[in-house]
Amino acid sequence: MPLVFLKRSVYTAIKSISEPIYSSPIPSTTTTTTTASGRMQAWIIYYYGNNQQFTISDSVQLPIILSPKDVLIKVSASSINQIDIRRREGYGGKLINAYQSMKAILQFGGSQVDKLEFPLILGRDFCGEIIRKGPNVTKFNIGDKVYGALNVTRQGSFAQYCAAGEDEICLKPNNISDEEAAALPLVSLTSWYAIRKFSGFNEQNALGKRALVIGASGGVGHIATQLFKNLGMETTALCSADSFDYIRQIGAEDTVNYKQKDWLTELSQKPKYDIIFDTVGPRYYSFELMSPLLNQGGTFVTIITPVFRNVDKHGLISGLSRSAYKAVKQTLYGLSNGVNYRWAAYSADGNVLSKIKTLVEQNKLKVKIDSQKFSFEQIPEAISYVENGSAKGKVVIKYSTVL
Ligand SMILES: NC(=O)c1ccc[n+]([C@@H]2O[C@H](COP(=O)([O-])OP(=O)(O)OC[C@H]3O[C@@H](n4cnc5c(N)ncnc54)[C@H](OP(=O)(O)O)[C@@H]3O)[C@@H](O)[C@H]2O)c1
Repeated sequence: MPLVFLKRSVYTAIKSISEPIYSSPIPSTTTTTTTASGRMQAWIIYYYGNNQQFTISDSVQLPIILSPKDVLIKVSASSINQIDIRRREGYGGKLINAYQSMKAILQFGGSQVDKLEFPLILGRDFCGEIIRKGPNVTKFNIGDKVYGALNVTRQGSFAQYCAAGEDEICLKPNNISDEEAAALPLVSLTSWYAIRKFSGFNEQNALGKRALVIGASGGVGHIATQLFKNLGMETTALCSADSFDYIRQIGAEDTVNYKQKDWLTELSQKPKYDIIFDTVGPRYYSFELMSPLLNQGGTFVTIITPVFRNVDKHGLISGLSRSAYKAVKQTLYGLSNGVNYRWAAYSADGNVLSKIKTLVEQNKLKVKIDSQKFSFEQIPEAISYVENGSAKGKVVIKYSTVL
């Protein structure tokens, strides 16, 4: 059982990075004009580090369509996620590069390995228009407005153009702006995967069950709170008191302030939960601390997983072994207490984005946007704004510059 669960977590991590990295460019079936030079503007980094690493360049080669099922997208908006900050600092670099090196060696005998890491374009979320497509793309047409979150091995969306697989994207919801659409994908995919795919909650079994969301006011947390509400679940939000009114408006029945010292006692006095969704991590909310709040058979699911960090710190073999050990240990601890322990991660998934689109168009899901707006040229400032803790909602970037 623990191994099945670990396999699933690693599978999702690998699936999220498993698209072709290097292959001959695929000729696109239909092409519209992109830029005369075949170049684009992008924010790039050459080294991991702080925000000073960002350089804007207007001579970055347009992404090449590498798979017959890939599309090229002209980006109109993106948003900032914590992963952008972590990746800028080097988070996940060793595992992602090990995977890409292995793939390059298998495909090209290693001749492309030195080109793998830098210059790196960050940014996962995007909304934009399809301007080119591979010959096997059947779901989309040139000119379609789509949204999505790029898998971590793709070059990012802090550029005028990005490439994605047709199964990884979806038509943008009709009733919201491009910026709102670009704020949704990563946080929605993460919430959906954690609740439904990793914890097994759905329309058939969720009604009337109880959920606790740790970090409910955050990007992931406020979407998760609404997804629980849509499943007919009763949700308690653990967040700061400043967010109580908002979080109740979007569907939480109950609120607890994590900044008050007896938050755990307060939670312990409430009926137990069927799922605890953790977006903050074991430093404050370890499985051992939180599991007494679960009903028998309940699930503690966390999106703060140690795999990337362990590999960054200890290397590939030792990092993966330590992660496996932790997964097995926590799972066994859970089993001995009658509860489940899960790690969850997002994966680019057009089918899930399509469900999110429906919920948004039915006004059952709304993303909270920070009032401060940023342009493409201000992306490093937008990242600093998030990093400094100033954001009160998703921070979105509007792209207006045309080469
Ligand atoms: N595994 C994956 O695939 C995946 C995907 C997305 C994100 N993540 C990770 O998940 C985490 C959350 O992402 P996010 O986008 O939701 O971040 P975010 O928008 O920055 O939100 C973080 C939230 O955590 C709350 N918070 C901070 N300390 C807390 C504490 N001690 N107790 C309770 N709440 C606390 C903050 O609330 P206040 O402002 O009220 O203090 C804030 O609302 C990040 O570490 C990110 O890297 C993982």
